[in-house]
Amino acid sequence: MCGIVGYVGSREAAPIIVEGLKRLEYRGYDSAGLAVQRGGRIVTLKKVGKVSHLESALPAGAITGSVGMGHTRWATHGEPSEVNAHPHLDCSGSIAVIHNGVIENYSSLKKKLIAGGHQFLSETDTEVLSHLIEELHKAGGGLEQAVRKALHQVKGTYGIVVMSSHEPRKLIVARKGSPLVIGFGEGEYLIASDPSALIRHTRKVTYMEDGEYAVISAEGISTKTLDDVTIQKSVEELSFELDQIERGGFEHFMLKEIHEQPETIRNALRGRLQVEEGEVKLGGLEQMREKLISARRIILLGCGTSWHAGLVGEYMLEQIAGIPTEVEYASEFRYRSPVIQQGDVVIAISQSGETADTLAALREAKAKGATVLGIVNVVGSTIARETQGGVYIHAGPEIGVASTKAFTSQLTVLALVTLMVARAKGLLHVDYKLLMKELDALPEKVGKVLDGAARIREIAGELKNARNFLYLGRGANFPVALEGALKLKEISYIHAEGYPAAEMKHGPIALIDEHMPVVCIVPKDAIYEKVMSNVQEVKARRGRILAVANEDDDDIGHLAEFVIRVPRTFGFFGPILNVIPLQLLAYYIAVARGTNVDQPRNLAKSVTVE
Ligand code: AGP
Repeated sequence: MCGIVGYVGSREAAPIIVEGLKRLEYRGYDSAGLAVQRGGRIVTLKKVGKVSHLESALPAGAITGSVGMGHTRWATHGEPSEVNAHPHLDCSGSIAVIHNGVIENYSSLKKKLIAGGHQFLSETDTEVLSHLIEELHKAGGGLEQAVRKALHQVKGTYGIVVMSSHEPRKLIVARKGSPLVIGFGEGEYLIASDPSALIRHTRKVTYMEDGEYAVISAEGISTKTLDDVTIQKSVEELSFELDQIERGGFEHFMLKEIHEQPETIRNALRGRLQVEEGEVKLGGLEQMREKLISARRIILLGCGTSWHAGLVGEYMLEQIAGIPTEVEYASEFRYRSPVIQQGDVVIAISQSGETADTLAALREAKAKGATVLGIVNVVGSTIARETQGGVYIHAGPEIGVASTKAFTSQLTVLALVTLMVARAKGLLHVDYKLLMKELDALPEKVGKVLDGAARIREIAGELKNARNFLYLGRGANFPVALEGALKLKEISYIHAEGYPAAEMKHGPIALIDEHMPVVCIVPKDAIYEKVMSNVQEVKARRGRILAVANEDDDDIGHLAEFVIRVPRTFGFFGPILNVIPLQLLAYYIAVARGTNVDQPRNLAKSVTVE
């Protein structure tokens, strides 16, 4: 996700743009830039880092002009750098573009444009738009038609603002898959990724829809479909307060991020899972593909939630791809002089890409000769830069300290890696296309689980005063039990433990009585009966059973006091669905207990200290 701001009016654009970008920094903050029209040309300024770096670099009063646009970046293609920061210009510097989204066919478009003589400066997908519009503008018809024709050639998602010195005092905005809102001020217009950047100036807004574009000048605004059909847009009155808007209307960033998961899982799959072609394309692993496929052993490194993701990955990689896999706490691995042998591949899993223990463990493995790869969210982060290849999970900024959407995107990427390796090794005994279709269906199934949030909130109200919780799961759902327990601990401050369901008999069963909620993850898979026996054992000790079970399970209701239903899916994809109710349970219990959900006590979003 990136932040976009545009301004057309009579006031100085630069200060309005900078102030708006600051409101959008929660959407991405690795670099920022702006462009203003002044004296018939486009003046740009771009800086790595937060918007404040851009602001302090603004020469006082030097970038004047009353038409402009700005962008704060969450990198998807190309490291965070000044050259990759937006806006991006065409060859002549007469057309500037800022963009939020992913252009999936950018490499084929880029090849064609380079063959046509265009000079590219950045590694981004966005720069393709500037040169494509430039090329089409040469054919005549004006900027509007050039933009419209360019967007007809683009596959993927975009929210864009385009300006040109050929037609000054004008902005063209278009949306497909990434939000854009237009604000109506007094003799001025503002454009932004979300209303939080506008609300100081106006509460009158119109929301662009997919496939629409608008031409905005101080004289007025026209809105059309990409098929050049004029449309009338309704103007709405903003009722939100500012901080609510930044959270997308959700009470906390954590809840917003839990509900983003259908979209973020889709983003992790986008351009990689090619169901029709029966292929998994992971560009970031291309160089290391053979080493991964022929790995003697894979070691997954991580901390906290990322370590839990590694545990699920172990089940996937061993049982589908047939590669011996180990999972290590990074903090332990780095100090125990690990034995690394020829053919070992180490994969560091990290949302922030800055966790000190994970970085140190990665360096230790690299120093001992392992091939080191990364599964990371923050593009250009230290861990990402120190690996020899990897896969970005594209979950967007995760603001809530308790990791949610990053976890399910880590699992999605691990599933993609597993499928790619298993297919390359000819190991897939099950129908490959069936697996791919099931993976492709996950975002929708996650949405179905989220539809049950109200019931989970009720259950949270019943259990919020418990002093201890036990979470049980088997197989790939054992790590889900650990993750559910961690979520509860870190935001509600209730003690909770995750255990392999069968392991409960070897001690923890002594804890169970009528005061102990026991969360049982019991999908109808190959070991369903085994887990049901464990549920019986809990019932016999009067534990308060909360079961996460499939929709078609008619037996669990006789044992469990509470049942949360999830759709069926292929075994190893189950953790992606089964964790969602546990995220919501922890969230609603914490809210009921009045803790600081987004910034729980004693915690930090990224543990960059040892
Ligand atoms: C998870 O909810 C916690 N915030 C924490 O365990 C986190 O997963 C851990 O610190 C690892 O962070 P990373 O993924 O950024 O490396």
